[in-house]
Amino acid sequence: MSLLLTGGMGYIGSHTVVELLSRDQDVVIFDNLANASEAVLTRIEQITSRKPHFVKGDICSREDLEQVFSNFNIEAVIHFAGLKAVGESTEIPLSYYHNNVSGSVNLFEVMAKHHCKRLVFSSSATVYGEHNQSPLVETMPTSATNPYGQTKLMIEHILQDLAKSDPQWSIVNLRYFNPIGAHQSGLIGENPKGIPNNLLPYVAQVAVGRLAQLSVFGDDYDTPDGTGVRDYIHVVDLAKGHVKALNKLTDLPGCHAINLGTGNGTSVLEIVETFKAASGKDIPYQIVPRRAGDIATVFAEASKAKELLNWQTELDLSAMIADTWRWQSMNPNGYE
Ligand code: WQD
Repeated sequence: MSLLLTGGMGYIGSHTVVELLSRDQDVVIFDNLANASEAVLTRIEQITSRKPHFVKGDICSREDLEQVFSNFNIEAVIHFAGLKAVGESTEIPLSYYHNNVSGSVNLFEVMAKHHCKRLVFSSSATVYGEHNQSPLVETMPTSATNPYGQTKLMIEHILQDLAKSDPQWSIVNLRYFNPIGAHQSGLIGENPKGIPNNLLPYVAQVAVGRLAQLSVFGDDYDTPDGTGVRDYIHVVDLAKGHVKALNKLTDLPGCHAINLGTGNGTSVLEIVETFKAASGKDIPYQIVPRRAGDIATVFAEASKAKELLNWQTELDLSAMIADTWRWQSMNPNGYE
């Protein structure tokens, strides 16, 4: 029996592949390589001494999906594949709705046809919208302020309806907070295309000399130092959360939303200072106006994951930053 990881060549997907292979699971990666490098396969093999199956394909192609389900005996799916840039989603919303929502429905239909009804979905804390006060709890009302967030929310609703229609489905919607860090080998890590949207890859590229200085998006928020506060979680802890969720699917019918976060908040300037200490590099920055859509404080209430999955984070902020720096300094230009 195999596990299918759509988008398994990406940042979170590749780290999850490593955790699964390290537990002797048989893994099939399905990825269109739109936002990933095939070099990741070699790195995964270097880390685990195992080679996952890799199928280049697109969730928007029914034929591609039918082929992979016909060629492999898939027992469960972790669905990472999707476009994920908030800003870009406001510029090309139809691409986001087509790829993320239509592509996901495509996947779920092929899964049902092949009687594969165990699913872990890569959701996001972005579904909490901007009106909930942190710590964010799974029972809070959800909303979205951009097309990317809308697609995550729509897919969660689709999966809730699917589980209601057929009790054979076991589904977990994992709501990620802010994944950062890298595998301790430094062989795999976050490798955004172009100028990074997210804080950590941007800071890492300043530290390694690829970018000149960081723009801090506002220091006038109602937070201890005025800069944005987020719940940063080590990508390896996040990957282990997926393994725990997969194992739970065997006795958890229905559809369940679960936060994957540390429950702690860290500000932008705290991240900068921690990175300077870990790398020994200066991180020049300038304070600029707030970024549209940003809110002051976001962090998780993480008890449900502990209770339901027996999962909690193990790696602290210093490990997240040290591992980020090791990856970036060993790979100044990512996987190129
Ligand atoms: C973190 C903090 C910024 C960049 C996003 C998505 C979310 C999820 C995680 C997918 C904020 C500040 C950032 C910079 C800065 N992705 N910042 N200068 O916005 O919390 O969440 O990524 O699911 O959906 O919205 O993460 O890393 O962009 O920002 O000052 O150059 O860093 O204002 O306070 P965010 P981020």
